[in-house]
Amino acid sequence: AKPRGRIEPPTLVAIHEAADLLRAGELVGMPTETVYGLAADALDAEAVRRIFAAKGRPADHPLIVHLPGVQHLPRWATDIPGEALALARAFWPGPLTLILKRDPAVPDEVTGGQDTVGLRVPSHPVALALLQVFDSGIAAPSANRFGRISPTTALHVKDELGDKVAMVLDGGPCEVGIESTIVDFSRDPPEILRPGAITSDDIARIIGRRPRLRGEAAIELAAAPAAEAPAPRVSGALAAHYAPRTPLRLVAGERLAGEAALLAGEGSRVAVLAHRAPDPHDSRLIWQSAPADATAYARELYASLRALDALDADFILIETPPAGPHWRAITDRLDRAAAGSGG
Ligand code: TXA
Ligand code: MG
Repeated sequence: AKPRGRIEPPTLVAIHEAADLLRAGELVGMPTETVYGLAADALDAEAVRRIFAAKGRPADHPLIVHLPGVQHLPRWATDIPGEALALARAFWPGPLTLILKRDPAVPDEVTGGQDTVGLRVPSHPVALALLQVFDSGIAAPSANRFGRISPTTALHVKDELGDKVAMVLDGGPCEVGIESTIVDFSRDPPEILRPGAITSDDIARIIGRRPRLRGEAAIELAAAPAAEAPAPRVSGALAAHYAPRTPLRLVAGERLAGEAALLAGEGSRVAVLAHRAPDPHDSRLIWQSAPADATAYARELYASLRALDALDADFILIETPPAGPHWRAITDRLDRAAAGSGG
């Protein structure tokens, strides 16, 4: 038998093999344009339970079901609002997940027992090829241990999950680099549960109104009694997530050099991700250059966090990214990485 956890180039033979493994109830590492997914047959409750075991993920965190095309939507969701359909037509295949009322056939294991299901059609050619061969829904969370940094290469998946996956299809480094935008249409007005490469402006351009961002809603709710605050339904919405083991802090650009010098002065080894080197002459600082453009920054973000973590420094300092809609998803991930770091 072939070894488990092996990385395979995405030949047609390997893609058919991956589909056969999914049909046999196995887990497969699947490239998507956002991050790599830990894939299982979405209609096989047993296989889906294996996803939770492999990740160490609590069972009440629902999974996204990946579809071969928008034409599969009616098999998984009911009462689909016109605005949701318009977004699917505009952005699929692509990094957008729609939360819709689920069809009764969707297993409870996928939805965490909720009456909604998360659906998306990924644009990565290898994911699309696998979905077309498989011809059904593939449940896939990001292929990392729960709370840890999402994988953007096949090797990251192998490092995270080893032989818990039967194989990993190697689709190269992910183009987008951060997880899909999640829009919840089970409520009105729709709400962005997780920001991503598709911004609220992009969505407003299609449906003519701007969905609320989950954090913004929370600020308004803060005036209401605390008991009304909803339980987290999105693991990506937990304060601590995407987290390196090294303590990580976000520091404003103008304070970065001072803070780095202070920590280094106390004898700490400090890794820095910033647009410019805080002090090129200080050998106690390890500097990694951050792209000035949000698209490139997102693409490299998780690989950079992994690389910085692997340095075994005492601290990681990251320059606070600029404000503005294109940086929103990046700032969201960095805030959670900082909150969960050091554990
Ligand atoms: O880009 C992505 O979305 C990647 C790739 C692999 O497609 N997947 C991904 O999956 O990020 P995961 O499981 O790491 O994050 C999916 C998020 C979770 O935070 C989950 O709670 C939320 O989607 N989610 C899924 N179904 C939901 C539902 N019915 N209601 C609310 N949130 C849901
Ligand atoms: Mg995840």
